Amino acid sequence: MHNLREFIDLLEARGELKRVRVEVSPRLEITEITNRVVKAGGPALFFEKVSGSDLPVAINLFGTRERMSLALGVKSLGEIGQRLEELLALPTGRRETFLAKLSVLPKLKELASYPPKMVKSAPVQEVVETGSEVDLTKLPVLTCWPKDGGPFVTLPMVITKDPETGERNMGMYRLQVFDARTTGMHWHRHKTGAMHFEKAKRLGRRLEVAVALGGSPATIYASTAPLPENLDEFVFAGFLQKRPVELVRARTVDLEVPAQAEIVLEGYVDPKEEFRLEGPFGDHTGYYSLADYYPVFHVTALTRRQDAIYPATIVGRPPMEDYWLGQATERIFLPLARMVLPEIIDYHMPPEGVFHNLVFVAIDKKYPGHAYKVASGLLGLGLMMLAKVIVVLDKDVNIQDPSEAWWVALNNIDPERDVRFFAGPVDVLDHASRHFTFGTKMIIDATQKWPEEGFDREWPDRIEMDPNTTTLVDKRWHEYGLGPLKS
Ligand SMILES: Cc1cc2nc3c(=O)[nH]c(=O)nc-3n(C[C@H](O)[C@H](O)[C@H](O)COP(=O)(O)O)c2cc1C
Repeated sequence: MHNLREFIDLLEARGELKRVRVEVSPRLEITEITNRVVKAGGPALFFEKVSGSDLPVAINLFGTRERMSLALGVKSLGEIGQRLEELLALPTGRRETFLAKLSVLPKLKELASYPPKMVKSAPVQEVVETGSEVDLTKLPVLTCWPKDGGPFVTLPMVITKDPETGERNMGMYRLQVFDARTTGMHWHRHKTGAMHFEKAKRLGRRLEVAVALGGSPATIYASTAPLPENLDEFVFAGFLQKRPVELVRARTVDLEVPAQAEIVLEGYVDPKEEFRLEGPFGDHTGYYSLADYYPVFHVTALTRRQDAIYPATIVGRPPMEDYWLGQATERIFLPLARMVLPEIIDYHMPPEGVFHNLVFVAIDKKYPGHAYKVASGLLGLGLMMLAKVIVVLDKDVNIQDPSEAWWVALNNIDPERDVRFFAGPVDVLDHASRHFTFGTKMIIDATQKWPEEGFDREWPDRIEMDPNTTTLVDKRWHEYGLGPLKS
């Protein structure tokens, strides 16, 4: 899909999007409606009349497994992981050396089979407003929750360049609208945008920023993906959608922006300027993230389509729409994790764990202590460093089912023996860690224990019915007069 409106049309044609025609308020009302719909696994929503703005709001576009797959043009999210796996031709043999595994890394370049394409004119520049013409208060920006510090742009793709190398980055970082031409810039310290800002500060320069709203669904997803710093999100989006992302030069800053976006904000952050209080914000943890000081984004131009659609999401107590963006990441990045840790059979981050709070990992255990090796290895993989609790299980456990994973784990552990704590970086949004962004991790080894691990008792089998009896009962079920059972 080329852009947001093609995706919206597709969803509507499949009965996956509903239009709300009465006027609604962007202050709390849209959140309350959307929250109910998301929790019920309902459709994407298109609010045609939003008070205080001429622009409609599209929301919950990615809010189910099916829509997330449609967004990326696949039947199941695992297909993309398979494509990556084939591309990288991962060595799986145990005797492969670490160097041999690393030798496939240059193949990542092959992701660049659909590099972005520069175009001269773009729908997103049909209307161009600069300087005092810019008025962010005319956008239907949502105030999501009662204690939010103000209205927040919730689905922004923030584009910057490394001030030293010129390497481009795009990340999704929320923006609190302060007034007609300024917003907060809530990039966390572990994210690439914040690193570009730190470099600009060291060099004593302003950092130019462009923020795109809308674009192809793959582009929107790519801005949330934890890519290695040197992998361009537009290249990755091209790989996902199997066609190049069209880029156009921004009008007032030296950056390229998605030509097919709905709206683009152009401007800068100035490291010399004092940070401004941003938040609170009802966040994806289900709690308010507390107000804190962040850089100010000055908007020098706003470009948009004539009939622009404002895309948004809401976050809050899980599951929310962002769980499905996270699911895409979980499935797509599994082969990359396995490249370094091939003993991983699967991992899963259930919604209650809001991504980093809980990771279940199933491994093919081969030696004593293997669970700790895998947990430590995972913590070294990019943003996985923020994982708080890692539960390692044997390969026969279906960890996609948290109820099964906890059942096995709670049976298998002797808490004092099988739980380890150690220090590390934690997410900016973790409100419980004893220091800001620094806290502890808990590793639970819930694998079957081996004699070499000091276990000298007999390990029991799991209860399973014998296959002859299950077949017999299947065949005779109708005779028992019990009717069909709810599964
Ligand atoms: C809906 C949504 C909102 C997000 N908001 C923020 C945010 O405000 N700040 C932040 O640092 N990360 C936020 N993230 C996570 C980042 O987008 C994600 O970590 C991404 O990989 C960052 O890109 P980067 O590695 O290029 O910095 C959000 C993700 C989603 C799905």
